[in-house]
Amino acid sequence: MPVPPLQDAKFNNHALGLEITRGSRSFFPGLSTATLGYNNDYLGPTLRIYNGQDLHIDVANTLDEDTTVHWHGLHVPAEWDGGPHQVIHAGDSWHPEFTVNQQAATLWYHPHLMGKTGEQVYRGLAGLLYIEDDFSLNAAIPKQYGFDDIPVILQDRSFYEGGSFAYIRSGHDIMHGMLGNNMIVNGVIKPRLSVPRGIIRLRLLNGSNASIYRVSFVKQRPFWVIASDGGFLPQPERVNSLIFTAGERYEILLDLSKEPAGTSDMMIVEQWAGNRYEALEITTEDSISEFNTIPQTLYPVQPIDPKTADRTRQITMETISRGGRLTINGKNMDMKRIDMQIPLGSTEIWEISNNSRMMMQVPHSMHLHDVQFQLLDRNGEIPSPIERGRKDTVLLMPGEQVRIISKFEDYTGIYMFHCHMLEHEDHGMMGQFEVIKG
Ligand code: C2O
Ligand code: CU
Ligand code: CU
Repeated sequence: MPVPPLQDAKFNNHALGLEITRGSRSFFPGLSTATLGYNNDYLGPTLRIYNGQDLHIDVANTLDEDTTVHWHGLHVPAEWDGGPHQVIHAGDSWHPEFTVNQQAATLWYHPHLMGKTGEQVYRGLAGLLYIEDDFSLNAAIPKQYGFDDIPVILQDRSFYEGGSFAYIRSGHDIMHGMLGNNMIVNGVIKPRLSVPRGIIRLRLLNGSNASIYRVSFVKQRPFWVIASDGGFLPQPERVNSLIFTAGERYEILLDLSKEPAGTSDMMIVEQWAGNRYEALEITTEDSISEFNTIPQTLYPVQPIDPKTADRTRQITMETISRGGRLTINGKNMDMKRIDMQIPLGSTEIWEISNNSRMMMQVPHSMHLHDVQFQLLDRNGEIPSPIERGRKDTVLLMPGEQVRIISKFEDYTGIYMFHCHMLEHEDHGMMGQFEVIKG
């Protein structure tokens, strides 16, 4: 399995560089697919940054089309968020500069051009962004990039017979989102991964446009979830499978300490309303990873007390089949409209519901820029342990309701909130909040 090259911001004078280019790749023998990538034909480098660090990023857009680079999950001043307002025109460059102000987490970056996000991501623009901090650098968990700490970007894609990506062929692809019929892992179909014996850390990104994935192993081995979107859980949570939607991340530990060298297992990815894939074959080698036990505890999550909320908002996500409308609180995205103003320093609860009407039973998700939030409840019940940590994207199946709570700190400005099924986002299931001086 290819592992994206690592760019570590400790070196190179605290600077990172991304060049957005065209490329081509053979996903199938003898067929070539026109792609986009960051410093690469498809996907981009893993960027490793450090809490407290002053950072400089050089982004060059060599394409003949506009794009943006959004740092998904990063708490960053609005002007450097890379949302639809921060267009990098064809041939231009962009130079964000900010101080990393956030605990360790596995984030990612991708385009966010109004109406074009889904297509540009589909063609290959996405990469991982790791934040490290004192805890993550010293914890008793694997941390050697590509050896025992391995990025796993899961994406599904459909292709035309000639090899090109088949992006949006009908209104169905918009209303239900793109559900591809090939599973791509780190840019390759059904790769093989050799790992040392011991504890292995996989950083999973659901990098699909709109798919909900269930991840498990053929041998039904248990694994331990150690982190959700925005950071570590208080302790590892043992599971046999996990479900996550487009844009979400989970870090997991596998215990391969008792496997003889040469043992294989297969990661299975099942796509909601789609296929089942043998996604990744993992085989143990002779080498030994740094750790051979699952830690007892990780990093505390400080629960935000709902009593401290300054305000509660109702957010309804709706799919209306007639006219094919995708709305939040009855509205379609308008870049000139601010949907809500939030005083800096305030805490808010959002009660979000997926209101599926007239046979359109479509899942949605809610992603907020700027903040990490906590899930208070799902359909009135306490969420599963793996959903009780810091999150920036939450899945809402048809008819579901969740309550999230977040504190809007440090930065003022305009940020997006939207469904992370990218075809929904591109078709208007997005709004803007402005954090204003309190
Ligand atoms: Cu992953 Cu608004 O983005
Ligand atoms: Cu985002
Ligand atoms: Cu949606």
